[in-house]
Amino acid sequence: MQIARTIAEARAAIAALRAANKTVALVPTMGALHRGHLSLVRAARAACDAVVVTIFVNPTQFGPNEDFSKYPRTFDADCALLQAENVDLLFAPQPGEMYAQDATTVVEVEQISARLDGQSRPGHFRGVATVVAKLFNIVAPGKAFFGQKDAAQVAVLRRMVRDLNFNVELVVCPIVREPDGLAMSSRNRYLSPQDRRSALILDRVLRHIQSRAAAGAIDAAELIDSGLAVLADEPDVRLDYLRIVDPDTLADLPDVERGALVAIAAHVGPARLIDNVLIPSR
Ligand code: PAF
Repeated sequence: MQIARTIAEARAAIAALRAANKTVALVPTMGALHRGHLSLVRAARAACDAVVVTIFVNPTQFGPNEDFSKYPRTFDADCALLQAENVDLLFAPQPGEMYAQDATTVVEVEQISARLDGQSRPGHFRGVATVVAKLFNIVAPGKAFFGQKDAAQVAVLRRMVRDLNFNVELVVCPIVREPDGLAMSSRNRYLSPQDRRSALILDRVLRHIQSRAAAGAIDAAELIDSGLAVLADEPDVRLDYLRIVDPDTLADLPDVERGALVAIAAHVGPARLIDNVLIPSR
């Protein structure tokens, strides 16, 4: 596995892959890799000839009081995992390489970026869209792989790709869970054993809503109320949002008849965790 630290090195390595007629997959990450990331790498490996992974803890998607400085950085362990997956190129720049000090250009996906996590984390999706646009320009992948766990991020990036005509196919891979249901996240490392137990409530709330919907309930307000009643079992978990939305626009839906995304975000100990489930259209 080749490691590029600069954009020029990454471009040269990718040009060599293209010269060998290889199709290129991109898996953008912020490192602290877990089985969820590895499922993206494996899907990329299966779909394309060459796999490029990026590890970049992107400062512009963190708010001033968020966890940028303490976000887990586990570069050596990440490299070993990626090597074992036969990744062709790891691009791992520093912020100064990615952002000119006087950079003033951003990608703003309006409206969608102000919903769900964008409402609680103003500017977050501007940072995500901007860095992913830059990575698309640097790598020019045919396909790019993202996790369904970040359902709002997927909606923002899909819209960006459509609106700005990026020549890339977004591939969205299912949420990978621990055996007890907790969705894999780099931020699970922040959880104490007690927090870890409390965090299971996110999955329980979603399963509850999913089973009520499967049993015929359609009214979004009623489904949310029944989910909130389950959440009340864990008074230490501080809800950020529980919403039933259109998976493409992230706008609230009155009912789940035509399919819906049920998304939850909550603070558990020092971590802010997100999870979601898709309800199929009837
Ligand atoms: O999902 C993530 O890890 C990040 O938001 C991404 C897509 C790598 C952009 O920094």
